[in-house]
Amino acid sequence: MAVLKEIISEERLRLRVEEISHEIAEGMARKDFVMVGVLKGSVVFLADLMRALHRRGLCPTVDFITISSYGDSTESSSAGKIISGLHHDVEGKVVLLVDDIADTALTLKQARDHILSMGATRAFTCVLLDKAGRRKVEFEPDFRGFAIENVFVVGYGLDAAHRHRCLPYVARLEDE
Ligand code: IMP
Repeated sequence: MAVLKEIISEERLRLRVEEISHEIAEGMARKDFVMVGVLKGSVVFLADLMRALHRRGLCPTVDFITISSYGDSTESSSAGKIISGLHHDVEGKVVLLVDDIADTALTLKQARDHILSMGATRAFTCVLLDKAGRRKVEFEPDFRGFAIENVFVVGYGLDAAHRHRCLPYVARLEDE
C-alpha cells in the first residue's frame, strides 16, 4: 500500500510563494500581463500566487488552458492535445504561464508554443516544482519554486489518478 511522506510543508510553500511573487514583480517588470494556468494541477498554486501578486500591487487577468496528459498513469508519453484553449485574446500581450510541475516539460513547451502562436509577444513560465532531470525537451522555467528529485509527488494541486490534490502540503507517494 502507498503512504504519503510530506516533503514540502504548508509553511515552506507559503513562504516560497511570497518570494516567487517578488521575483515575478521584479523579473517581469510590468503590471499588465495575463496569467494562464494549466489545468488542473496549477489551480492551488495559481490561486495563492495571484493573491501574493496582489499584495505586491499586481492584479493580472487570469485564464486557463487544458492539455491532455498522463491519464491515470504516472508516466508522460508524448505531448498532449490542447483540450480547451484560452478565453482571452492574448495577441500583443505578455503572458505568465503557470503550472504545478515541469517534469518532461512536454506540456509546458506545448502550452508556451500555443500561447505564442496566438500572438502573445512573450510567454514567461512559472512552475512550483521542477524535476529538471526528467526533461524530454529543452526547457528552463523563468520562475520556479522548488527543484525536486525524480519522485512522484502529490498535494497542493498535484494528483495521482485524481486523488490528493487537496492536501495543503507536497508529499511523495511511497510503498509501505
Ligand atoms: P510534463 O511531463 O512536464 O509534461 O508534465 C505534465 C503534467 O504531468 C504536469 O503538469 C503534472 O500535472 C503531471 N505530473 C508530472 N509529474 C508529476 C508528479 O510527480 N505528480 C503529479 N503529477 C505530475
